[in-house]
Amino acid sequence: MTQPTIGLIGLGTMGAMLALNIAEKGFPIAVFNRTTATTQKFHAEADDLAPRITPCDSLPALVAAIAKPRAIILMVPAGAAVDEQIAALRPLLDADDLIIDAGNANFHDTNRRAAEAAASGTRFLGIGVSGGEEGARHGPSIMGGGEAADWARVEPVLSAISAKYEGQPCATYMGQAGAGHFVKTVHNGIEYADMQMIAEAYGVMRDGLMMNASDCGITFDQWNAGPLQSYLIEISAKVSLAEDPKTGAAMLDVILDRAGQKGTGRWTAIEAQHLSAPIPVIEAAVAARNMSAQLDTRKEGEAIFGAAPQHIAPGAITREDLESALIAGKILCYTQGFALLAAAKPAFGWDLPLPAVAHVWREGCIIRSSMLNDMSIALAEDPARNLMFAPFFTELLKSSHGSLRKVVSLAMASGLPVPALAAALSYFDIMRTGRSTANMIQAQRDFFGAHGFERFDAPGAHHGPWGNH
Ligand code: 6PG
Repeated sequence: MTQPTIGLIGLGTMGAMLALNIAEKGFPIAVFNRTTATTQKFHAEADDLAPRITPCDSLPALVAAIAKPRAIILMVPAGAAVDEQIAALRPLLDADDLIIDAGNANFHDTNRRAAEAAASGTRFLGIGVSGGEEGARHGPSIMGGGEAADWARVEPVLSAISAKYEGQPCATYMGQAGAGHFVKTVHNGIEYADMQMIAEAYGVMRDGLMMNASDCGITFDQWNAGPLQSYLIEISAKVSLAEDPKTGAAMLDVILDRAGQKGTGRWTAIEAQHLSAPIPVIEAAVAARNMSAQLDTRKEGEAIFGAAPQHIAPGAITREDLESALIAGKILCYTQGFALLAAAKPAFGWDLPLPAVAHVWREGCIIRSSMLNDMSIALAEDPARNLMFAPFFTELLKSSHGSLRKVVSLAMASGLPVPALAAALSYFDIMRTGRSTANMIQAQRDFFGAHGFERFDAPGAHHGPWGNH
């Protein structure tokens, strides 16, 4: 066997799957896990890939097993564990050995680690990897950040293991330092929003239209053959149609309505606030997850105020209306997500390649969808244009925003919460209003703080005739 030029630390689910993927694509790999039994078990179960895998029982053994210049992927939990691993590994490495953090790192941490690497003359890449366990094993979407030369060194391996869209690898260099992890963070924010809007459509079907889980599943399945075709709609159909082996009930009906989270959606919302980039659909989705977790408070609220009526008159909302509403919501959500990516330029200096972002999201990642291909085409035509102003999406929005309004207004009138869809509708209405109500805000600010305002009829800063109140 040729000596590995790549190593991997951390054989949890994602790390193990990534290592098998790398070995399968023909790259010998050395692996290490802090529990040696895990390393041995992994190697023993690697079947015909085992000859390409070198199991190592210590960090020095791992380093010794890899040919120079080395590349070592870290697949350890994001946060302090990454810093600890880097601190333990660095003294064992040569200056041109490359450490690659492939976990779900906070991009601010990646920026810091890249700066520390640069200061110490060592090499570091941060790559966002999306696609869950299945993606890691058979083809994730990969978003790279760091020095372009370091990316170029490992690009052949990362492209080989990545998902392919019509033969094109879904692995792209996004920019310096934390750029790859920033793109992955925005991916996850959009993931939250896509999931929340689907959950809201499910809520309208379940509680408004009184559809059972299997009818919802059939509906999702039908939508998956149209403009909404996507991994998340596909799995929504599957989970809706699944039965609980224990009770025979629909799986969805035995799952507690309290959503978990690891925090990347929250990071997207926090960052958007820092950058003054409006992403209300994603923020609504993050808030909805947080509210879902407040199960006891929700129960108390229902006991005090009573549940809202929720039923919608038969036929008032059709499945086609809901499909169209989701199409509009999705366009508006992605418009916000791509605008957030663009907003990183002044703050971080990243000129993120938006068409390439849409390219790598077309396959492998959790938000993969046919619409992302249309987005990649629209962004390639004009990366600086607001996505909803691209002719393809303008037409789609013109034909779908009426359904979004109908679904949101009827759901709200019935007391069915649809926060992300409602946020999408408000965003749409604000962004097509040439004259807003912010003149009132400006007058108030000038009244209480003499902050000044602009006038329609004269340039410069002005003050109102507020006197001494
Ligand atoms: C992906 C996913 C992945 C993971 C998130 C889920 O792109 O593969 O986004 O990163 O599923 O950790 O995040 P929450 O636990 O916050 O839902």
